[in-house]
Amino acid sequence: MRAMRIHEYGPPDVLRSEEVPAPAPGPGQVLISVEAVGVGFAQTQMRRDIFPAPMWRPTFPIVLGGDVIGVVAEVGAGVTGVAAGDRVGAYTLHGAYAEQVVVDAGTLLPVPSWMDAAQATVLPSSGPIASGTMRVAELQPGESVLVHAASGGIGHISVQLARLMGAGQVIATAGTPAKCAFAGDMGADLVVDYSRDDWADQVREATGGRGVDVVLDSVGGGVLRRGIDLLAPFGRLVFYGSAQGGREIPHISLMELIGLKRVTGFALSAWRNARPRRYRADHDALVEYLRSGAVRHHIHATERLEDVAEAHKIIESRGHCGRIVLVVE
Ligand SMILES: NC(=O)c1ccc[n+]([C@@H]2O[C@H](COP(=O)([O-])OP(=O)(O)OC[C@H]3O[C@@H](n4cnc5c(N)ncnc54)[C@H](OP(=O)(O)O)[C@@H]3O)[C@@H](O)[C@H]2O)c1
Repeated sequence: MRAMRIHEYGPPDVLRSEEVPAPAPGPGQVLISVEAVGVGFAQTQMRRDIFPAPMWRPTFPIVLGGDVIGVVAEVGAGVTGVAAGDRVGAYTLHGAYAEQVVVDAGTLLPVPSWMDAAQATVLPSSGPIASGTMRVAELQPGESVLVHAASGGIGHISVQLARLMGAGQVIATAGTPAKCAFAGDMGADLVVDYSRDDWADQVREATGGRGVDVVLDSVGGGVLRRGIDLLAPFGRLVFYGSAQGGREIPHISLMELIGLKRVTGFALSAWRNARPRRYRADHDALVEYLRSGAVRHHIHATERLEDVAEAHKIIESRGHCGRIVLVVE
């Protein structure tokens, strides 16, 4: 089978198309024949070796992970509840940029037959991260939510789900006028260009000086620090990515939280393992929102598997809105 492998960290061109043996599913695993893969910002950090999470320490050659949509080709020993021919989705840290990938059966989600494969790439990570971060924040009806990087693959889903999950005010940030316009189209009440020095003042003003109840932060760095400052009493900030900071994660003093503020981390695997029923119910709700049109998954570009380097270049040029998808032809 074809796989896009890297033998060293570096620029997008380290991603090389190679013929490799198809992997075999072990106990508790399934083999998926891949239809489409959602490419995320995290994989560009992995390729450059600046990914902040310590759980990702592979050995070369590496096939990067992503949001896989495909059909089960084979099941390993002990797998129940899923069979060859089932259409599934999975978020995996390894092996996705390939014609076939092995994943743990426990991480699979069902994908309806009516859903286009590129559209379905929202199901494994963007959707559950958007809803999961707001569950962890314990978002209450009528509260205000500040969504950073709101034009990105996850961000534009967070903006839409915040409203559907009961937020009273949705404030979005993005880095260019075009991205701000896109986040506004997704339903944000206010979009602030956070490349401007006064962005935090604009957010505070929009909340009547009180601050925001919930901040969803995948940017880190100085944005994180100002987000903590912007929290209203009893406000919660959920940190789930470090697009700006890479491995430089700000150190937070407890004194910054003394005004009745909370900061929580979020990793998708931890959320799925801790609240499997809630995770699955949110998946089912998202499928229904996509079917009815209440949530739109915007695909910025679709590339062939072998053009994955192009997909990484698009993400790193930072001009995209929504998700970049690879299709296996
Ligand atoms: N915790 C988890 O389980 C988990 C799992 C997967 C992904 N993530 C994280 O979720 C975040 C969003 O992922 P995604 O795939 O949706 O990414 P994406 O579509 O590429 O969005 C990333 C966004 O980050 C913003 N950004 C801010 N500072 C940046 C910088 N210095 N360089 C590049 N972009 C910067 C960009 O928007 P502007 O240009 O508007 O600033 C961009 O829209 C990432 O931080 C990723 O690592 C977390």
